[in-house]
Amino acid sequence: MIRPRTLRVDYDKTANVVCVVGSALHVALNRSAPPNSTFFSVKCTPNVQYSIDPPTQVTSHLSPITLDGKSVLLITMSSASQHENDSKLTVRYYGQNKDVLSNAILHLTALEISLDVDADRDGVVEKNNPNKGSWKWGPDGHGAVLLVNCDSERRYGKKLDTEVDYIAKLSDLRDMSEMVLRTRGPAKLPDGYKLTMHISQSDAESIRVYSPRPHSYSNFLPGVSSGFTRVLTSRVLSGQVPYLGGVAETSFYVEGLRFPDKDFDGLITINLSLLEPICRGLPETPIFTDTVVFRVAPWIMTPNTLRPVEVFVCSTSDNYGFLKGMKNLVLNSGYKLNICHEYMNRGDRWMQDELEFGYIEAPHQRFPVVLDSPRDGKLLDFPYSELLGPDFGYVTRMALRKDVSSLDSFGNLEVSPPVTVNGKEYPLGRIIIGVAFPTTTKGRNMTKVVQDFLWAQKVQEPIALFSDWLVVGHVDEFMTFVPAPDRKGFRLLLASPDAGYKLFRGLKNNGHGQAKLFEGRNDQKPITVDEILEDEGFQAENNYVQSCIDWNRDVLKRELGLDDADIIDLPILFKLEQDTDYEFRAVAFYPDMVNMIVLGKSLGIPKPFGPKVNGRCALEAEMCSLMEGLGLTCTFIDDFASYHRLLGEVHCGSNVRREGFDFKWWNLDM
Ligand SMILES: *[C@@H]1O[C@H](CO)[C@@H](O)[C@H](O)[C@H]1NC(C)=O
Ligand SMILES: *[C@@H]1O[C@H](CO)[C@@H](O)[C@H](O)[C@H]1NC(C)=O
Ligand SMILES: *[C@@H]1O[C@H](CO)[C@@H](O)[C@H](O)[C@H]1NC(C)=O
Ligand SMILES: *[C@@H]1O[C@H](CO)[C@@H](O)[C@H](O)[C@H]1NC(C)=O
Repeated sequence: MIRPRTLRVDYDKTANVVCVVGSALHVALNRSAPPNSTFFSVKCTPNVQYSIDPPTQVTSHLSPITLDGKSVLLITMSSASQHENDSKLTVRYYGQNKDVLSNAILHLTALEISLDVDADRDGVVEKNNPNKGSWKWGPDGHGAVLLVNCDSERRYGKKLDTEVDYIAKLSDLRDMSEMVLRTRGPAKLPDGYKLTMHISQSDAESIRVYSPRPHSYSNFLPGVSSGFTRVLTSRVLSGQVPYLGGVAETSFYVEGLRFPDKDFDGLITINLSLLEPICRGLPETPIFTDTVVFRVAPWIMTPNTLRPVEVFVCSTSDNYGFLKGMKNLVLNSGYKLNICHEYMNRGDRWMQDELEFGYIEAPHQRFPVVLDSPRDGKLLDFPYSELLGPDFGYVTRMALRKDVSSLDSFGNLEVSPPVTVNGKEYPLGRIIIGVAFPTTTKGRNMTKVVQDFLWAQKVQEPIALFSDWLVVGHVDEFMTFVPAPDRKGFRLLLASPDAGYKLFRGLKNNGHGQAKLFEGRNDQKPITVDEILEDEGFQAENNYVQSCIDWNRDVLKRELGLDDADIIDLPILFKLEQDTDYEFRAVAFYPDMVNMIVLGKSLGIPKPFGPKVNGRCALEAEMCSLMEGLGLTCTFIDDFASYHRLLGEVHCGSNVRREGFDFKWWNLDM
């Protein structure tokens, strides 16, 4: 029950009172009694209930009851009125001798009013959910969900739906959350009363509320926006809403305009008030307020263990062989391949780096949303021009040019499969980014606006790794996740110079010291296993790289709750190069096999061009034996000339859109 509203009742007068079913009126009897009143009695029509406090012994309130200085009458009404003034309550005051001094009469009109949302998250707007005014995470939680309407339903002149303040197409309503005003009562509100919907200034930045225009509803045509009016916008914080009379429902459509971020926790409150007129010229006062709360759905990333839907790669003047390899892999695995052609990519082949696929979800709707990186290479138009569309959303964060580094490419933004860490569950996994080593003040970092955005989504709490030791600086250069049938449902694959040296020493011991890496390539001087093992400087560089990866390994074990058995070390060597800052940083010495594309049980792995034993590449053989145990098949793709030599590999040059999780983010225990 809502806190009772104080009502003044003057003797010798008839007052008209509107009472909302479910709320109570509080009358301090003594305050409005005539002088020398000693007793009172109460009489009312059947639709009115009351209680007297302090309670009296008297069974019939029609006979005079002693009036106490603290006597209070609490009035409620059980159902809506059919007509204005159709209920009545009279308080009669008596003097010392039980002589009647005066009557105070209330003419009552009862209304049922409830502003409703899908607070139980089943896709249907239920009636008056008692929890609709608050938001609670978890399977036993409650609270409605709002999507950012970040797709583009318009047919012409592409724009985000959030950027236009009208409804372009009826299908746009599905991207909004329905809110229903349910009322019951007389045909019209008593004179001067009105209903208003209102929001705070800060919430107004984040939503719009539309409602169908009642009278033009019949001649509404799809594609024509005139069937809807804006009730609330960033400039209109309060709007009157119609009271339709009788038993009525009015639908509203709430549109989310922005994602949770550093300055926005995602929660939105909408109030609906019944205003009572005091007298002409004075503002009305609210006598009843109903409150609903929404949370804006977070942007969610999809780990390698989720089912792929489509794969994106670029076609460039020099990557024919790579493209052919990718085509075979993707089509044979049964997924869709999208090729971004040169007119769009303008030679930028790093499909992984310009964007990250994710999705947003409400109980009634789910669609993919691309996060556009501030990297802004020559692929910069691709996410907006080619991906944004009906039920395909778009979000980006703008950064100053000077604040953007290679670490802002989304090869440096990954997400783990679901994990449990010391009893805490992360059913949507955890986001992984690479930053500068925590002990240095210089060094590159992922730009703050993107980090803030990622942290604010909350449901995949990020982990920051150290990736600045690499020339390119992306976490996908030393780690990935593959599905596994056992243990935690996945393995973490880490690049490992130690595993590389171990493999090469084994080759030497077995008499293959003269086997050559890069044999037969005319763009790379071959090198023997012996030469690699004899180069002490090279060994020192790889020891350094191993220590950088081990630092990350420890962070990943701790933050993802992994054991050594959950991790597979891949034989990969690196070399150090002096980069443009005159800092020594690492690049893969041969194609970096961990930088792979994961499509269900099929892996597309950079072809390493390792030393051959009995005609078979020893690195490929090792990779296959490690992966086959997990039921995964390896396809080696030659990316040497067109990606590896440009400091990227298969993963950097591709992107995968995946299905979302079955798990609903609002069921997280936070
Ligand atoms: C009220 O009571 C006072 C004293 O008890 C008395 O003087 C006065 O006349 C009374 N007034 C009326 C209206 O009865
Ligand atoms: C209800 O009562 C008020 C005051 O007595 C009056 O102004 C109003 O017209 C009444 N309404 C109806 C519908 O009778
Ligand atoms: C909405 O109603 C709640 C509860 O009555 C109140 O705390 C809040 O300030 C109101 N907000 C607005 C914008 O009216
Ligand atoms: C880089 O970002 C991380 C993670 O937010 C932060 O802890 C660190 O202080 C930043 N480092 C620098 C050098 O800005």
